[in-house]
Amino acid sequence: MLITPNKQDLNKIVVINPKGGCGKTTLSTNLAAYFAMRGPIPAVMDCDPQGSSMTWLERRPDSKAPIHGIAAFKRTMQATRSWQLRVPQETTNLIVDSPASLTHDDLREVTRDASSILVPVMPSSIDIHAASRCIADLLLVAKIDRRD
Ligand SMILES: Nc1ncnc2c1ncn2[C@@H]1O[C@H](COP(=O)(O)OP(=O)(O)OP(=O)(O)O)[C@@H](O)[C@H]1O
Ligand SMILES: [Mg+2]
Repeated sequence: MLITPNKQDLNKIVVINPKGGCGKTTLSTNLAAYFAMRGPIPAVMDCDPQGSSMTWLERRPDSKAPIHGIAAFKRTMQATRSWQLRVPQETTNLIVDSPASLTHDDLREVTRDASSILVPVMPSSIDIHAASRCIADLLLVAKIDRRD
């Protein structure tokens, strides 16, 4: 199960869609870069075992505005899970990049305390159908209020 931090005054943006290749990582990394330019230093949490956001971050030139990376997909015996997922105190913007497959438990956990949930959708009927299932899960499983 994914554990997400519980921190007040944190703008937590969660990017999800069980459909692979719809642009979750592209959107997450672009948002992180945008917030980095504005400051203060944002954090990007990568929950996808593929680690694409973390790879992007490792390759980001040192000359660019810094972004704090949290490799949530990694399991380590050296630290507690909450220590591994800690968000720096000064962070005001956290972007969460999620994997293509999320269990219902993961969906509930990853969306907890989210300020915004973004669902990128490719313009094809198959992708739109998959996205509507994802939105139904958000309403029924994650219990996101329709008005939110
Ligand atoms: N808005 C867009 N327009 C055109 N191509 C895009 C757009 N967003 C992403 N792509 C391309 O789509 C591909 C998949 O994008 P990305 O890796 O961000 O998807 P993903 O949802 O994170 O995939 P995965 O589910 O495997 O993690 C990439 O080749 C990316 O360059
Ligand atoms: Mg991705």
